[in-house]
Amino acid sequence: MVDIERAKKRIEELREQINHHNYRYYVLDSPEISDVEYDELMKELRKLEEEHPEFITSESPTQRVGAAPVEAFGVVEHREPLLSLANVFSYDELAAWYRRNSNLMPGLPTDFVCELKLDGLAVALTYEDGRFAVGATRGDGYRGEDITQNLRTIRSIPLVVPKDAPPRFEVRGEVYLSKAGFRKLNEERAREDQPLFANPRNAAAGSVRQLDPRVTARRPLDIYIYGLGWVEGTVPETHWETLEYLKSLGFKVNPYNAHVSQLDEVGEYYQHWVEERERIEFEADGVVIKVNPFDLQRRLGTVGHDPRWAVAYKFPAIQATTRLLDIGISVGRTGSLNPYAILEPVSIGGVTIKQAALHNEEDIHRKDIRIGDRVLVQRAGDVIPQVVAPVASKRSGREKVFVMPSRCPVCGSEVVKPEGEVMARCTNASCPAQILQSLTHFVSRGAMDIDGIGEKLAAALLEKGLVKDVADLYSLHEHEQELIDLERMGEKSAQNVLGAIERSKSRPLSRVLFALGIRHVGAETAELLARHFDNIDRLANASQEELLEVATIGPKIAESIHAFFRQESNREIIKELRKKGVRLEAEVAKPEVLPLVGQELVITGRLETFTRSVAEARIKELGGAVGSSVTKKTTFLVVGADPGSKLEKARTLGARLLSEQEFVNLLEEASKR
Ligand code: IVH
Repeated sequence: MVDIERAKKRIEELREQINHHNYRYYVLDSPEISDVEYDELMKELRKLEEEHPEFITSESPTQRVGAAPVEAFGVVEHREPLLSLANVFSYDELAAWYRRNSNLMPGLPTDFVCELKLDGLAVALTYEDGRFAVGATRGDGYRGEDITQNLRTIRSIPLVVPKDAPPRFEVRGEVYLSKAGFRKLNEERAREDQPLFANPRNAAAGSVRQLDPRVTARRPLDIYIYGLGWVEGTVPETHWETLEYLKSLGFKVNPYNAHVSQLDEVGEYYQHWVEERERIEFEADGVVIKVNPFDLQRRLGTVGHDPRWAVAYKFPAIQATTRLLDIGISVGRTGSLNPYAILEPVSIGGVTIKQAALHNEEDIHRKDIRIGDRVLVQRAGDVIPQVVAPVASKRSGREKVFVMPSRCPVCGSEVVKPEGEVMARCTNASCPAQILQSLTHFVSRGAMDIDGIGEKLAAALLEKGLVKDVADLYSLHEHEQELIDLERMGEKSAQNVLGAIERSKSRPLSRVLFALGIRHVGAETAELLARHFDNIDRLANASQEELLEVATIGPKIAESIHAFFRQESNREIIKELRKKGVRLEAEVAKPEVLPLVGQELVITGRLETFTRSVAEARIKELGGAVGSSVTKKTTFLVVGADPGSKLEKARTLGARLLSEQEFVNLLEEASKR
C-alpha cells in the first residue's frame, strides 16, 4: 500500500475508535480506556491530519471546536414546530388531563412514558446522510437560531450516526449543565471576577448562545435526547421504542425514563422523584408524561402550542416568601461591592434561610426589590438561595429603595462604578476587606494551598498586624510566639501553619500566578501564562501585545495582567516573595528528590476531587509516573466511582488499591515531604 493510502486508512480507523470511546465516555459514562490512551489516539489522529490536510472532514473528532466566532446566529426554520407543554400541579389535575383525553379517545386506556423535565434549553439536531448537519434553538417554536458550531462542542452529541440510520431525521433534546458543572463554572467566574450565573439553566442558555464556539467548548455542557422531531424512513410505533432506538443510534437518553402501564404508576414515579430530586446530578423541575403509542398521539393532536398527548407535572417550587430586613454589602477580593439580602429566617424545603443572593445594584432595581418588602425567595438544588421578586401587593409604603453606598462600608474610601461594568468597586487597594479576601484566596487549596489558614486565622493575622500582605506570611516565623498566643492556636497548630507556609514556597509558578489574584486570571489562565513565560519577571515585563500572543488570552485579560504588574505595590510584593524564597520560575525540581519517583499510579473510574488531567498532573509534579493500564509495574490503582476492568486486573496482579480519599491524602503527604 502506498503511504498515502495507509494514512487514509489509519485516519479512518482512528476516527472510528475515537468516536467509540467518546460514546463510551460521554454518552454511557463508562469509559473503556484511560484518558492518557485516549489522548494518544487523538494525538496520532491530529498528527496524521496535519500531514494530510486533504483528509480532514468536518465530522472528524478533531474538528469539534474548529469554527471561528460569528457576528450573529443565522435563522433556522423548523420543519415541524417545537411544541411546548401544558402544566399540571397536582395529581387531581393530572387525572383531569387523562379524563379529558379519554373522553376524546376511545383508544384509551393506554401506557405512558415518564421522563424527568430537565431545566435547560430545548434544541433540535438535524442529521443528514449520517452526519450532524444543523443544530438549532427552539426560538419561538417555528424559527430558531443556528447554533450548530456550538452544539458540535458537546461531546455527547454524535457527529456521525451508524450507516443504517435514516437518511434524514431530526432529534430533540435538552442541553443542560449538571449541578456540579454549574458550581464549578461559577466558582471559576467568581475567581475571575466575572458576574455569576443565577442558575444552571441560565448558565446553559448563556453558554450555548456564545458567539465564539471556543468559549462554549470550555463549558461543561451535556444533553439528553427526548424524542424524534421528524424522520424520513420508518421508525418504531411507540415513543418508548423510539427512545430505545435513539439510544442504539448513539444518542444520550436519560436513564431515569420509565415505561408505565397506568396512571397511578405515573403518580408513583412523580412521588419518587419529588423525594429524590435534590440528589439528581442535574436540575429537573417536573415530570413529563407522554402517551406511548404514536397512533394515539397523532389522533389526540395539539391544542394551540401544546400537544394533548403530553403534559408536564411540575414539582412543588422550593420557594417561600419572607421579609427583606436589610441589604448587606460584602467586599470582594478585587474591591467589588456585593449586595446580599438579609432575611427574616424562613424554612424552605427543610432548610432555614437567613441570607440570599442579590446580584448587583442594577438587578435589584430591575426587579424593584425594596428594603422592607415581602420577597419571594427560591432555593434550587445546592445553589445559593436567591431573591426572585418582591410581593408588591403587600407593600405598606414604608419600604426603602436600595442605594449603593458611595463610600466603602469597610474602609470608607470612595466607591466607583466604571463605565460598562455592573459592579461598584472600592477604590482603595489596601482596603482591609480586599486584603483579607486576597489573603484567603492566596492560601486556598487551588492556590498556594497553605493548610491551616482559613478566613478566621487570616482575619486574626491582619487584625494583630502580624501580616499586612501576602508576602508577610513568609516572615511569620519571626513572630512565632505571637502566633502561638492567638486565640485557638497553641504551639502545635502554630508549628503546622509555619510548616505549611514553608512548604508552599516550592509551589509551581502557575499556582503562584493564580494565588496573586490578578483580575480575570483563573487557574487555567495562570497555567497558560506559566507555560508561556517561564518566570515571573518575563510576565511582569510583557507588553499587552506579547500577552495577546498567549492562546485564549484576549484584550480584557491582557489589560488586567498588564495593569496588575504596573502597580508599584504589586511589584513590591513580588520582590518580597522572591527575597523570602518563594519559587517564581517555572522549572521543575530535580526528579531524584521528588517523593513519588519510582511509583506508577493508574486511575480508574470517575474522580470527584479533581479532573483526571489535574490528578495526572499532580502525580507527575511529584515525580510519579501515570500508567494507562494495570501491569506488574503498577504500584497503586486509584479507584474512582464506577471503576472499569482495571480493578479486577489490579486485584489479580496485587497492585495496592487506593480510594479517592486515600489518593488525596497520599498527594498531600507527598507534597509535604
Ligand atoms: S417533550 C411536545 N420532554 O420542556 C413535547 N420536553 O415545555 C415537548 N423539556 O421546550 C417537549 N425535558 O425544553 C420534553 N423530557 C422532556 C423534557 C422537555 C425538558 C422542556 C423542553 C420543552 C419544554 C416544554
